[in-house]
Amino acid sequence: MVAEDFAVEIEELTVSDGKPMRLWGGRFEGGPADALTRLSVSVHFDWRLVPYDLAASRAHARVLHKAGLLTKDELERMIGAIDDLERACKSGEFRPTVADEDVHTALERGLLERLGALGGKLRAGRSRNDQIATDLRLYLRDHARTIVFRLVELETALMAQAEQHAETAAPGMTHLQHAQPVSFGHQLLAHVHAFARDIDRITDWDKRAAVSPLGAGALAGSSLPLDPEAVADELGFSSAAPNSMDAVAERDFAAEFLFDAAMIGMHLSRLGEEIVLWASQEFRWIEMDDAYSTGSSIMPQKKNPDVAELARGKSGRLIGNLMSLLTVLKGLPLTYNRDLQEDKEPVFDSVDTLLLVLPAMAGLVATMRVNTARLQATASDGFALATDLAELLVRKGVAFREAHEAVGHLVVYCQVNDVELGDVSDEDLLKVSPHLTPDVRDVLNVPGALAARKAPGGTAPDRVRDQLVALREAVDAQAAWAAGS
Ligand code: ARG
Repeated sequence: MVAEDFAVEIEELTVSDGKPMRLWGGRFEGGPADALTRLSVSVHFDWRLVPYDLAASRAHARVLHKAGLLTKDELERMIGAIDDLERACKSGEFRPTVADEDVHTALERGLLERLGALGGKLRAGRSRNDQIATDLRLYLRDHARTIVFRLVELETALMAQAEQHAETAAPGMTHLQHAQPVSFGHQLLAHVHAFARDIDRITDWDKRAAVSPLGAGALAGSSLPLDPEAVADELGFSSAAPNSMDAVAERDFAAEFLFDAAMIGMHLSRLGEEIVLWASQEFRWIEMDDAYSTGSSIMPQKKNPDVAELARGKSGRLIGNLMSLLTVLKGLPLTYNRDLQEDKEPVFDSVDTLLLVLPAMAGLVATMRVNTARLQATASDGFALATDLAELLVRKGVAFREAHEAVGHLVVYCQVNDVELGDVSDEDLLKVSPHLTPDVRDVLNVPGALAARKAPGGTAPDRVRDQLVALREAVDAQAAWAAGS
């Protein structure tokens, strides 16, 4: 199946082309009030489920045939009409109307137009309740793969920069204050690890989402001899739902997906915030490519990090969409309730948002120019090598508490005299503390400080390269998952 979206605006729906199409008209005398129709309609947003609804219809038609409820000839005509309807939906030749209510109704109209009475046979043994639950799972599983692809592109861009900058020392920060020098590549890979876990969450979610609701009917299953497992298999699910009530009532798969999307949003926001800082005049760590930055309408000199800011800002809607669905679900009695129609817009919005933000962030990261000289020059600012000094004293047998204190005094001395740690004379070092013999200056160099952090997980350039090897393998596997292998 292709992750192809079908878009339609509500304004386009207000004119009905003919007699209102309802799947439930039998027991009703009058038509629905206009206000009800407008409240009830979902086809302007669920229209994007067309390819999934039609795929489920093909599978359902085949089990109806196996059950002896459609002849071979009827099945062939049915499949032909479904194929033609899909073509017509894609080309825009077949459009939903407001009177269609939802995607299922509109597509049944399309089949009736093509097949006459035969089009009405497909509804046997299924309900919009199991259809919509199936469609949404298919849609999400399909789009999850596209999202993973886009994440892999972002990971790849970050890894390429990290490879270039494994040796580039940068000021490592805690509390946004200079703390200890780090490899800039190490910092970039920290973001890759976060995105890699996000992808793991999606692939793990996918196993739980791979259950087919079709066959559950409205809520109780069907008295017709259907074959839900065959349907599940045809649609790429790993099994059919073991409980028809759970199948139609539950949307935890959508909420869990929205959680994964919110977490990705949070990670994008943190990366975005860093890029905003890095691009600022105060940091000047990176220069953004013109193609991924914006100007100001009044200040000719401005180059703004809008991509990073929008990534940060759009995390709000990703988190909001999760809250919105959880709030809809909370307190719903089993099984289907119309409240569940409210599941789709948050889900679609999160998918659309990620597919907008991820390529822009990947492009921004891939094309940014890192100001290596400035990073290196400022890596030890703020007495960032003080810990190295204290640890050297520890290696010489001084208790850490005492070493911490001695180096603390030295920092104060440097601040008062406006000098760097390495600039203090032998004599003055000893005045500050008897532990501060001239050889302590040996550890006051940034490349040495990085290389010394060589235990697994440390910022030593060699460890950064080890991470790159392991991450490349993991990211290749993630790309392969997204490609369906
Ligand atoms: N549009 C509905 C939804 O999104 C489809 C299912 C309608 N079922 C019903 N019994 N009214 O949930």
